[in-house]
Amino acid sequence: MSEQIQTRTPQALFQSLQYPIFQAPMAGSQDSVLAIAVSDSGGLGALPCAMLSVEQVAEQLELIRAKQGRAINLNFFSHTPPEPSDEDQKRWLDTLAPYFNELDVDPASVASGAGRQPFSRDYLDAIAPFKPEVVSFHFGLPDKSLMTEIKAWGGLIASSATTLAEGLWLQDQGADLVIAQGLEAGGHRGHFLRADLEEQLPTRELVKGLVQQLDIPVVAAGGISTPQQVSEMLELGASAVQIGTGFLLTPEAKTSALHRSALKSEMTQNTAITNLFSGRPARGMVNRLMAEQGPMSDKTPAFPLATNGIAPLRAAAEKQGSWDFSPLWAGTGAAECQEKSVTELISWFAGASPL
Ligand SMILES: Cc1cc2nc3c(=O)[nH]c(=O)nc-3n(C[C@H](O)[C@H](O)[C@H](O)COP(=O)(O)O)c2cc1C
Repeated sequence: MSEQIQTRTPQALFQSLQYPIFQAPMAGSQDSVLAIAVSDSGGLGALPCAMLSVEQVAEQLELIRAKQGRAINLNFFSHTPPEPSDEDQKRWLDTLAPYFNELDVDPASVASGAGRQPFSRDYLDAIAPFKPEVVSFHFGLPDKSLMTEIKAWGGLIASSATTLAEGLWLQDQGADLVIAQGLEAGGHRGHFLRADLEEQLPTRELVKGLVQQLDIPVVAAGGISTPQQVSEMLELGASAVQIGTGFLLTPEAKTSALHRSALKSEMTQNTAITNLFSGRPARGMVNRLMAEQGPMSDKTPAFPLATNGIAPLRAAAEKQGSWDFSPLWAGTGAAECQEKSVTELISWFAGASPL
């Protein structure tokens, strides 16, 4: 296992990077291959752990530490798992019933239980031997005692803020870095104080406000897809940018073939925030389910339980080559997505070379 890079302060972390570019952790669309390629190309690579077991996280970290000696960002969800409710589940399955019928899916095959686990003592014990330089969270922060242990090995703690109030809360609770996630961002919205989407700000406004109000560094995220947008965010005072959608067409990402086709189609012109796939709002390209049932619906059970009803529909439709029930996560910059290698993209984003 290689030694931890000495990045005990955010400033030391930024200095260790060739470019101020963080790769957004993207659960379900990437593994250590993308994270390693990004860190090797001068940015900060990230490993999303929300859909990995404790053992899988340790395996992926083993690979990362064996293959490169640079800083890494490990990302977890920190939601409070909901109490399953039979009533909510029934309402959701009733809503989806016409689709079960159409695709010949037996509703009795719908799994119960939560597919995404929040950060916990077990995950902490698995990652501690590797001393990841950055541990980031979506949907708030974990228990204080877990954060104290991360800080004890020199790990920096980051989390997404979607409002100025969330940024201030994260700073007060001991975060070292705040990811300013604007409304343009692809994937799940990281809000945790209030669920009202009306209160959440576009990236530019959010970055401006957070840079003014916080003492800790702000990383801009959401809809950033060109070198011009990267420099605009840095000029606003962001210490770095975090890009997700922009990496989805790289060969190093594990983006599915259907998701890749959608990213190369007209669908990139139309993204929306939907809660249909998991129970929490997330931005993706508008497909049939979103057009017919939402994009926002009051029929979904709490996050992440809505996923269970969708999973067999998604599997059946994908078997027929259809993305009607697939979450096609993408930010508003999806149309700019480039099918290039990570190395080419990073130096392009950073303004260091043309594409
Ligand atoms: C496919 C996809 C999956 C995502 N999964 C995660 C995740 O697991 N954890 C997380 O903190 N953020 C996740 N996000 C959100 C990103 O952290 C980030 O806010 C977003 O990608 C920035 O906007 P952009 O996609 O327009 O660049 C995801 C985004 C996408 C596009």
